[in-house]
Amino acid sequence: MSIDIQQIRSQFPILEREVNGKPLVYLDNGATSQKPKVVLDILDEYYEKYNANVHRGIHTLSQEATDLMEESRRKIQKFINAKHDHEIIFTRGTTEGINLVSNSLRNILTADDEIIITEIEHHSNIVPWQLLCQRTGAKLKYIPLTAEGILDIEKLDDLLTDKTKLVCVNQVSNALGVVNPIKTIIEKAHSKGAWVLIDAAQSAPHTAIDVQEMECDLLVFSGHKMYGPTGIGVLYGKEEILNELPPFHGGGEMIKDVTMEISTYACLPFKFEAGTPDIAGIIGLGAAVDFINSIGIENIHDYEKELVDYTIQRLSEFDEVEIYAKDAEHSGAVSFNLKFDGVHSSDVGMILDKKGIAVRTGHHCAQPIMQHFKVPGTVRASFAVYNTKEEIDTFIDGLKTAIRMLG
Ligand code: ALA
Repeated sequence: MSIDIQQIRSQFPILEREVNGKPLVYLDNGATSQKPKVVLDILDEYYEKYNANVHRGIHTLSQEATDLMEESRRKIQKFINAKHDHEIIFTRGTTEGINLVSNSLRNILTADDEIIITEIEHHSNIVPWQLLCQRTGAKLKYIPLTAEGILDIEKLDDLLTDKTKLVCVNQVSNALGVVNPIKTIIEKAHSKGAWVLIDAAQSAPHTAIDVQEMECDLLVFSGHKMYGPTGIGVLYGKEEILNELPPFHGGGEMIKDVTMEISTYACLPFKFEAGTPDIAGIIGLGAAVDFINSIGIENIHDYEKELVDYTIQRLSEFDEVEIYAKDAEHSGAVSFNLKFDGVHSSDVGMILDKKGIAVRTGHHCAQPIMQHFKVPGTVRASFAVYNTKEEIDTFIDGLKTAIRMLG
């Protein structure tokens, strides 16, 4: 199926605006995507017609709000092919999902246990594990990178031991856009009885996710990078694992019974959803899933692959440009620098911004990767389904100006 990009673009009001007198070219989708009209409209509609607290009231509005929220949960269950809807836990985003799991493990892990992550993680998949290891005495190990900047997966065999309890890895690197070999990692980790947590923040918007086929134990992603609102995300966990984990936040909604001495907890998913949830955000995320489904995630994947391949091809025209992990499989993003001494990625970003082109510059919350390449930051162009090859040409023209000005 070919997709009608102009029809898709017309659903995003923000794409009509100008920045610095030029049409906006938004290539910072790895940071957050823009939102289609269906998502914007449902947020208004929710507050105009259905606003009430969920799961609490006997009254009609409360029941309608609850029905809409639970319908969203089922949409997300289907989107990632989870076995049960109660395996979908709503969080504020990827970061909170990982912190939920790491905090739940505080009284489960001991100084005898080990966690393996990688050198290609976002800080949100590093710091929570460092905190957990400081608190429990457990050991944190890293799968290293090759000189090119891809995971040195052979090293995993040496790192995995009978003490490994958890392996955490992103499916796609936010900083480089590199696709990681999660199938191999999951197989190897399971052979040692370790759980695997997948950070799908940068893959959920771009590629079909089937948690049952993948056999991951836990998986997290954010709504705002996949056309949904900010402040809403998802933690998926296999039912038996979520049942094993104690709650993170305590409060209303997550209890069965409370006495002054002790409390018992609600069943899944509510055990992990203390307090009033972001009801509008959840419903908005459901609408974002509808939007993706209306195009088809496979179609989005194939189209964005064309955009990424084209960007790498155009960037390769310049001797002055270094593309990171150039020959690795990419999804959704490409990272590069100009090879000029003393030029920072933000210098390039500022010149592009003057031309209406939005890219992210800096360390992308992934400082270990920057340390690996011995650079303070990179320029990252990251894509969504509404981007076009013409926009990439505009970006390349802007880059030519940057090369002229900074070289
Ligand atoms: N994690 C987001 C990014 O990579 C903010 O830009």
